[in-house]
Amino acid sequence: MHSFRYVGRELFCEDIALSDLVREHGTPLYVYSQATLADHYSKLDTALAPLDHLICFAMKSNSNLAVIRTFADLGGGFDTVSAGEIQRVIAAGGDPGKCVFAGVGKTEEEIAFALKQGIYSFNVESEAELARISKVAVKLKKIAPVAVRVNPNVDAHTHAKITTGTYDNKFGIQFESIEAVYARAAKLPNIRLRGLQMHIGSQLTDVEPFRKAVEKVGPLVTKLNARHGFDFFSIGGGIGIVYEDALASGDVAWWKTAAGRKILTPDLYAKTLLPLLKPLGLKILLEPGRFMSGNAGALVTRVEYIKKTGKKNFVIVDAAMNDLIRPAFYDSFHEIVPLTKKAGAKVSSDVVGPVCESGDYFAKDRPLPKVGEGDTLALLSAGAYGSVMGSNYNSRSLPTEILVHGKKTSVVRRRQAIADIWANEAIADWQQQPKQPISEKPQAKVKVTKATKAKK
Ligand code: LLP
Repeated sequence: MHSFRYVGRELFCEDIALSDLVREHGTPLYVYSQATLADHYSKLDTALAPLDHLICFAMKSNSNLAVIRTFADLGGGFDTVSAGEIQRVIAAGGDPGKCVFAGVGKTEEEIAFALKQGIYSFNVESEAELARISKVAVKLKKIAPVAVRVNPNVDAHTHAKITTGTYDNKFGIQFESIEAVYARAAKLPNIRLRGLQMHIGSQLTDVEPFRKAVEKVGPLVTKLNARHGFDFFSIGGGIGIVYEDALASGDVAWWKTAAGRKILTPDLYAKTLLPLLKPLGLKILLEPGRFMSGNAGALVTRVEYIKKTGKKNFVIVDAAMNDLIRPAFYDSFHEIVPLTKKAGAKVSSDVVGPVCESGDYFAKDRPLPKVGEGDTLALLSAGAYGSVMGSNYNSRSLPTEILVHGKKTSVVRRRQAIADIWANEAIADWQQQPKQPISEKPQAKVKVTKATKAKK
């Protein structure tokens, strides 16, 4: 389920009308539902109950401290990809001992930091990295817990930019080489071979690639476990979510779209994989990101202008590709709905941002209710790979983020002040300093337009 739904004509997140949040905080605005985050965690947790398991939230999908804290409070761990992400877990009050550390380019400093924090395991992507981890561990007189990432060469049938489990990708070590790599790694000082890891791709809506990969890798895990004495097997993340019909699916059942199309559910995932995983007798780690945070977030934006050309009806909004890059980068679909329901026929519209790029769009030729200046819209399923992929392109400040919990709301990220965008920049020493340095920081103000006032 997810907690975005209409109550009367107004779109709510849990018990809060999004229009009220706009009046208070302006736009663009990210809104997250704590109930949805918790619901998705517990659905997966319950489905996997027959196994000893740890759900490590892939925080690359959403690393807001309050989101991290939500999962930490539920007992979850974290899949991290930088020292920065491990520091975020600590800053949010989470346990670094429940963090796995992945990524193909870990620096010596990052490895040292992770070792000092006592992370659960490094997910290692190459032999060169194994050697480096061993060297740093020796220097620090620590034992490094390690799992090698196996590339099972299974096609995940997903978008080319988010598939990772074939030999065309930079990730992991090829299946055929793994045994030899473990044999060599076992001889490295200060390395503890704690498990094996795999991940085949993201936004998988079919269970078959998961089944194929676990079926292929399972026997390898058994063999390596007998030799090296493992604690765990990590099957990665990748469970897909509903993007189309996201709103209707929240009302019915989040895994079943209004059109009745079923996608991967935690139950189907568990039912398919449990018989393959249980006999391994190991702790099973998962690294879901999108599944946990995707449907839990919306990006709220305001219509600035309507521009009609002979061919198109452009709805120009105040959010842009710097706030949510997924449509521009992956051609991905996000459902767009008005905060206040509109009657009347739909109009084919292009929803675009103000950034100077043709790629700065959220929807093309989309039938949308007729909207005008000052109306507000929500882009749904924006909780994963939304804010985290944001940038200051076009010197646009990063938006406010709100966490909703029942009737409660909390600002979990303040809107970035404009001057903070260049806070780390300077005029070069040999250049003349501006005569009148900016004395006041131009703050991004909360905008209250006539249109939003009228709605009160
Ligand atoms: N584990 C590993 C090793 C990963 O590389 C990823 C995602 C995950 C777990 C989490 O995958 P998830 O459960 O979220 O599918 N920016 C793209 C997605 C990039 C995914 C990168 N790796 C998007 O917006 O669709």
